[in-house]
Amino acid sequence: MTTGVDAVQDAALEEAARGFAAQRRRVDEALRAFCDRHLGPLEPVVADAIRYSLLGEGKRLRPILVLAAYEAAGGAGDGAELAAAVEVVHAYSLVHDDLPCMDDDDMRRGRPTVHRVYGVAAATAAGLAMVPLAARCALDASVALGLPDDACGAIVRELMQASGAGGMIGGQQLDLEGEGEALSLERLERIHRAKTGALILAAAVLGGIAAGAGEDRLEALRRYGSSVGLAFQIADDVLDVTATTDQLGKTAGRDLALQKSTYPALLGVDGAMRRAEALIDDACGALAAVGLLTPALEYLARFTVARRS
Ligand code: IPE
Ligand code: IPE
Ligand code: MG
Ligand code: MG
Ligand code: MG
Repeated sequence: MTTGVDAVQDAALEEAARGFAAQRRRVDEALRAFCDRHLGPLEPVVADAIRYSLLGEGKRLRPILVLAAYEAAGGAGDGAELAAAVEVVHAYSLVHDDLPCMDDDDMRRGRPTVHRVYGVAAATAAGLAMVPLAARCALDASVALGLPDDACGAIVRELMQASGAGGMIGGQQLDLEGEGEALSLERLERIHRAKTGALILAAAVLGGIAAGAGEDRLEALRRYGSSVGLAFQIADDVLDVTATTDQLGKTAGRDLALQKSTYPALLGVDGAMRRAEALIDDACGALAAVGLLTPALEYLARFTVARRS
């Protein structure tokens, strides 16, 4: 039975779902502006590869998370360029994740992977070029928002740390090393938190820093991002075995083929989903405790595990 309170909450989440589509359009516009502004000096094939990777049909979860955190923490400027910087790092991670020396995938976002279209050399160069461009985009965006120097520095540092050896890159390396091994849940959690969780955590924190959030609110955003980030990769592992290639826009069943350790392999699909849902409750609880749980941030957290692609 739906109570009055539930009905109000459901209506707020439905509104948040509509907001998600609008934020996605803002992010796409910022990504197109990024391409127009930054790709000119590059070799044409590398520029084309970056444009192809960035403008493909992704969910834009990380940049929308930046916007939702920024707005929840009282940010009143246009956070879209800052949000785009995070998507640039994410898109680069996908280009390299799909390379033959990594997951060797042919399909991404419903079409051939970047190296399938432009070749391995151009795809590798495109990914490498995207990292410094993302740092520059984050800095330009922070300056354009009128943030003080220490906040500008903190934003670029946070984004680059999440992308680097202590975050995504390190996690990707451990992920590859773990192929063919039966990893413990503890080791798998460490990999998932690094390869995927770190950037999602950074997205939430970046929004907070840009809005001038105080230490307690930043800490809550950190906890939220950390839990949502791990839940996101658990759901990705589950979808790899429960969804079709058509639904995913990328090859289903890839983890099994590559002999990766995954949450559903260790906990079963139901057990993995229960773990992901508990993480989402934890994430929302952390924000509620400091008055930051907006419908948009709750919707994004719940979408992370309820999504079908
Ligand atoms: C896929 O991320 C890679 C992971 C970190 C699991 P997404 O599922 O967010 O991919 P897009 O951006 O929607 O294509
Ligand atoms: C990717 O994890 C993590 C990244 C940093 C890109 P996966 O290898 O599981 O992502 P998909 O399933 O190919 O999107
Ligand atoms: Mg991978
Ligand atoms: Mg992969
Ligand atoms: Mg996957």
